[in-house]
Order: sequence, then C-alpha cells, then structure tokens
Amino acid sequence: MLSANGIRYVDLFCGIGGFRLAIGQATRELGLDATCALSCDIDESCQDAYEANFGERPLGDIRAIVADDVPDHNLLLAGFPCQPFSIIGSMLGFEDTRGTLFFEICRILERKKPEAFVLENVKLLVGHKKGRTLKKILHSLAHLGYAVDFKVLNSLDFGLPQKRERIFIVGFRAPSRALFWPQGVSKMTPLEEILEKRVAKKYYASDRIIKSRLAAHKKRSYATIWHENKAGHISAYPYSCALRAGASYNYLLVNGERRLTPREMLRLQGFPDTYKIVCNYSQTRKQAGNSVSVPVVSAVLRSVLETLGYISGQEKPGATMTEQYAGTASENCPEVQAALSS
Ligand SMILES: C[S@@+](CC[C@H](N)C(=O)[O-])C[C@H]1O[C@@H](n2cnc3c(N)ncnc32)[C@H](O)[C@@H]1O
Repeated sequence: MLSANGIRYVDLFCGIGGFRLAIGQATRELGLDATCALSCDIDESCQDAYEANFGERPLGDIRAIVADDVPDHNLLLAGFPCQPFSIIGSMLGFEDTRGTLFFEICRILERKKPEAFVLENVKLLVGHKKGRTLKKILHSLAHLGYAVDFKVLNSLDFGLPQKRERIFIVGFRAPSRALFWPQGVSKMTPLEEILEKRVAKKYYASDRIIKSRLAAHKKRSYATIWHENKAGHISAYPYSCALRAGASYNYLLVNGERRLTPREMLRLQGFPDTYKIVCNYSQTRKQAGNSVSVPVVSAVLRSVLETLGYISGQEKPGATMTEQYAGTASENCPEVQAALSS
C-alpha cells in the first residue's frame, strides 16, 4: 500500500502545522520521506498560516470529511481540541463519544486503520473526572484494535525554555509493539536566544502594569518571564510558563514589562525563524498557545518510527505498553461496530 522509505500521514486539527514541522524534522534526520495525505482545521486564520508555510490549504470541519475519502496513510497525527472533555467524561462508553471531536479521530482510525497514531492534549486530561475521561479515550482506542500508551512530557525537558506539560497518546495496530518514550535533552536553550533584540513600543505594558509588577517582584540581571497566576501571584523564571491561547495579555511579561512578540512565541514552541507569520497579533498569539512544541513531537515521532521499524533502534529492555489497553480488534467488538454502523 505504501512505499518502503516513505511515510504518509494525516494532520488532523492541524492548527498552524506544529505536527507537520515535527514530522518533517524527524523524517529528514532519519533520511525518510514524509508526505502529508490530508490536513484539516476549521479555523480560517490557521488555514491561512498553514497554507502560507506548507503550500496547501487544510480542509475545514473534520465532521464533514467522509472517512472513505481520507487517503491511505501510515500515521494519524492529531492535537485534538480539549473542548469535548466535559462531554466525554460523563459518558458511559465508546458509543457515547459519538458527537465529540475525539470520535472524529476514532471514525477515521476505524475506517483507514493506519499503522500508528500520535495524539496530543493538555495535561488536565489525565486527572479529568478522576481519570475517567482518559480511561474512556484509551478504551475507545484499544477497542479499535490499537495497543495504546500515554505519557506526560514537558517542553522544558526538550530544550525549549517553556514549561509546557502535555499528554501524548500513542497507539500501534500491532498489539505487541512497545514504545520507548523519549527522555529529552539536558540543555535548555537560554531565554536570551529566544528574545528579540529590538522590540516595538506597542508590545510594552502600560506604566501602571509595569509599576504593579515591579511592586510584586524584583527585576533580575538576566532575562526572565514574569507569570501572573489566576490568584494574581507573580513569579519570574528564566523560562516561560505555558503559552495559552486565551490568557490575558499581561499573563506573561518579559522582564515584567513587555509582551512576547509573535516570533518569540513561535520560537518558544520550537518553530524555525523561516516560518512565515501571516496573521495578526491576536491570531498568532492564539495559534501559538494552541500549538504543539515541535521538538517534543519530533522526539516522540522518532520513537514511533523506530518502534514501527522504519529505523533500526537499539534493544531497550523493559518497555511495555500500558497493559490493560493492549489492542483488541475492533472487528471483535460489537460495541464499536454498533456505534460505527449506526
Ligand atoms: C489544540 S489545537 C491544535 C493545534 C495544532 N496541533 C498545532 O500544532 O498548531 C486544536 C485545533 O482544532 C481545530 N478545530 C476545532 N474544531 C474543529 C473541527 N470541527 N474540525 C477541524 N478542526 C477543528 C481548532 O481550530 C484548533 O486549531
């Protein structure tokens, strides 16, 4: 079905293309070809950014995509929106997840049966509804015939000066396959390398805000990013707290005085400077906050490709899939069949 040295993937809920940059990076380093078979995102500004950078305009609403029309692919990649958690968490089982955006992923997996998938979401998913939501997600994926595993990874451990913890859920069609989760790297890129040297006045906070920040915290001799939590407490670190799509404009301030520029936000997510910024400030801010950290995804994808046998890895004893979620063929699961055929 697919060429020996090439990876075909689909980029669902693609945003501005963080997964696409990551798979490009991982496969290039490994001497493999990667082709995007389909991308989709409902947001027009994300489509604009994606098209400007990758030369393809993503399809829109995933709910309008007929699963049979999705081209064959080896890998399904998706940073799905966290909006349906509250819905999934209160549901009884796989059949009840119909109508959520997570189900759209299941729908395509069920029909196209790619070799593996990588999903990304917020860490909150782990504890949501005392773990019931994640359990339902894992069970649903296992019922589709996948051996499933998950791990929370922090961008800080992958060289980026951003504390961003995200859950990665990986599944393989062959139940015996086990993933060796990447360990990360020891060296963090210094914040100074991310910050722009000359920054326009418009990024500076008002005198009132700067004064209130300085009253709460002392300035340091080195670059810091000041973070205001929900309770109004200010902390300053030599790295950024997680970029967030919907946070207040003063949630993160460089040295307590100015906002991050669009380029700085993208750098904090590991986007290269060749990435074209074509949207306005608030759109780019939202997009960067929603995006994945490229080096983290790239490391996960390297491990996935190694597990799939696209590159030879060393024997690493002791890796096991999360046992209870080892794949069960969906063909044998009447619950899934009923949900998908109705
Ligand atoms: C968490 S973001 C993923 C960002 C992406 N991984 C990146 O690196 O930029 C979720 C994305 O899902 C998109 N989305 C939400 N509902 C959708 C739908 N019904 N169909 C397609 N995309 C949708 C949003 O516009 C958003 O860009």
